Amino acid sequence: MMNPVLETIRQRKSVRAYEDKPLPEDVRDMILKSAMRAPTAGNMMLYSIIEVSDQEAKDKLVETCDNQPFIAKAPLVLIFLADYQRWVDYFKVSGVEQLCIEKGVPMVKPEEGDLFLACCDALIAAQTAVIAAESMGVGSCYIGDILENYEIHREMFDLPQYAVPICMVCFGYPSVKQKERERTKRFGEEFIVYKNQYRRLGEEEFKEMYAGTHKRMMAGSADKRDQPSVGIRMYKRKFSAEYAVEMRRSVRAILDAWIA
Ligand SMILES: Cc1cc2nc3c(=O)[nH]c(=O)nc-3n(C[C@H](O)[C@H](O)[C@H](O)COP(=O)(O)O)c2cc1C
Repeated sequence: MMNPVLETIRQRKSVRAYEDKPLPEDVRDMILKSAMRAPTAGNMMLYSIIEVSDQEAKDKLVETCDNQPFIAKAPLVLIFLADYQRWVDYFKVSGVEQLCIEKGVPMVKPEEGDLFLACCDALIAAQTAVIAAESMGVGSCYIGDILENYEIHREMFDLPQYAVPICMVCFGYPSVKQKERERTKRFGEEFIVYKNQYRRLGEEEFKEMYAGTHKRMMAGSADKRDQPSVGIRMYKRKFSAEYAVEMRRSVRAILDAWIA
């Protein structure tokens, strides 16, 4: 069973090198309009999108997002913010504050749960943009490192308390090399999809999970003997890496600011 939507989802891959060609205005518009058709909690649109067109800002994002030069070359760069600020401001101008005073109750402020919900909105909008772009031949790549350096990004984009970056996506027409690149592999469904109950995996299952799927990750490693498992490799290169440490610090700062 195949149709154009499923085919688009199936063949998408992250694109990190772009043709030196701007996106036509109608293509950009369609990406943004599609993002805004994404499902959203309570139809509240708890997100905002910042289009970064300023080259200096893109250059700076290369540095603040763990030195990823392709960001500067992407013709379209969108930052998806979890955003409760619009509602908090609207509550205020709608007389909610006055109503609370009259009723003698404190005005409720956004808490962590509201942030989680707004993150869901922001990410669903982002992925809808990714699929819309893909369907028009425009490649994309998420930049999770936008979670780092919160204070710098807050200043760069003039972010108020309740608007925080959740993800960034770079868009552009894929280079020939990118088009030809093989898709990444995924773990088998039996390790990811559970029926009715969560199931923790044992050592043997982990071996099975990695067999075939992530062989490539171990191939060509100069220090294979020192890194006997993908687990150790991933722990070193990702989980305990410098950027992950900065990401955790920065997200703590986001949370502190949100619930201040
Ligand atoms: C939340 C998130 C953050 C990501 N951050 C980055 C990033 O900072 N830099 C990058 O090159 N790719 C990033 N990616 C892309 C992933 O590396 C990519 O999706 C993964 O390797 C699977 O490859 P595929 O998208 O081609 O299937 C990110 C993806 C997601 C979903």
